[in-house]
Amino acid sequence: MDKKRDQWSSNLGFILAAAGSAVGLGNIWKFPYKVGNGGGAAFVLVYILVILILGITVMLAELTVGRHTQKNAVGAFRQLDKRFTFVGGLGIVTGFVVLSYYSVVGGWVMKYMFSYLTGANFWVDGKMDTARYFANFTAGYEPIIWHILFMAAAVVIVIRGVSGGIEKANKIMMPGLLILLVLVAVRSVTLPGAAEGVKFFLLPDFSKLNAQVIVSAMGQATFSLSIGMGVMSTYGSYLSKNENLAKNAVLIAGIDTVIALLSGFAILPAVFAAGLSPTEGSGLAFITFTAVFDKIPFGGVFGFVFFLLLFFSALTSAISILEGTTAYVVEELHIKRKTAVVTLGSIMAALGVFASLSNGAMHIKMPWWGPNGFSWVPLMDGLGFLTDELLMPVGAFLFCIFVGWVWGAKRASAEIKQGGKFRFAYEKIWTVCVKFVAPAAILLVLLSSFGVIRF
Ligand code: PHE
Repeated sequence: MDKKRDQWSSNLGFILAAAGSAVGLGNIWKFPYKVGNGGGAAFVLVYILVILILGITVMLAELTVGRHTQKNAVGAFRQLDKRFTFVGGLGIVTGFVVLSYYSVVGGWVMKYMFSYLTGANFWVDGKMDTARYFANFTAGYEPIIWHILFMAAAVVIVIRGVSGGIEKANKIMMPGLLILLVLVAVRSVTLPGAAEGVKFFLLPDFSKLNAQVIVSAMGQATFSLSIGMGVMSTYGSYLSKNENLAKNAVLIAGIDTVIALLSGFAILPAVFAAGLSPTEGSGLAFITFTAVFDKIPFGGVFGFVFFLLLFFSALTSAISILEGTTAYVVEELHIKRKTAVVTLGSIMAALGVFASLSNGAMHIKMPWWGPNGFSWVPLMDGLGFLTDELLMPVGAFLFCIFVGWVWGAKRASAEIKQGGKFRFAYEKIWTVCVKFVAPAAILLVLLSSFGVIRF
């Protein structure tokens, strides 16, 4: 067992790591296609509102629980109120499920990155066909190798610990990601014909706004900020009492949102410039974007740069999930860090193999209850629904109830203010949000994603 608990070496180190957790495939891969499906700028506006009202609220609640107890997700709840220990446990289970399929997508990203690096193309049967290439690739056995490589990369970093592994990796990857993303965004908005995409992204058409768009924005915000599963509370638990939580929560949410917006600028104008549709769904980055790169000068270079930054973003998120579960196993089950990380990584990788196979190589399905009732869905999609539409919102809801009502917003505020050392300017708004607004909003999302209420 660790004698002394590891801590971030500086507030900047913490901010980069927490932002590294938040910024991930959710921002760069999911956000632009959700904007595409949600009708463009109207979705973007709603999304920003949701971040302000719900996102920052839960983020701060989680960081506070972690920093106050200086414990892993399970230990934190156990210390504050034994009856709520299960919320920490739920977070650990969620972490298992998320990382198992997240790592599969991380593997796809690695494959595309290496394809660009080695000059491979996306041809099928003698012609450029990025859609069929993607379908063939994901339906085969090759993604398993990449998935395992991706998981191994996360394991290697997390083994080295909080300040020695996670913080150092983020200090390199996060600034790198930002520079690469700006590069791709500048290239994208300056393509001939990009203006249409910029308009789609910036000029809201409010007729596109409906309850479904709002629900989709809420789900996206929860996933994108990594909230509701004890990952942020674990990261907060390595933060010293000398740091300002209220400010940090705003900063992390701010960075996450800026990166999501930048990704919109990187992807949507390019898609319009190439005369393609932004409503391609989850294939947007892999199918549409690769087709765009094929048509522009030095497209191969930009392709590599894009998938490299996607890889950085995915890896920094993956290590945060792995750390969340590792902290629990090390501190509660008293298992050595190295053993814990390797074992956890292996179990998640194994589950991920089945997720990957379910994309076509084998018919592995799981039952799911969606807005349209009961159905059998491929395991990979089902695990995604399970976390995005059930486990993470339930976790976020319970965090709000716990902090707002059980532990109490007053005690949380005291932890945030540290005896008056820090100003907490938005204390009143936060209290109302954490007790009423955020839990009510999350409940709405939950009910609608199971078709209990319809819009
Ligand atoms: N927020 C990450 C993303 O946007 C995903 C994530 C979810 C990371 C949950 C940690 C915990 O990709």
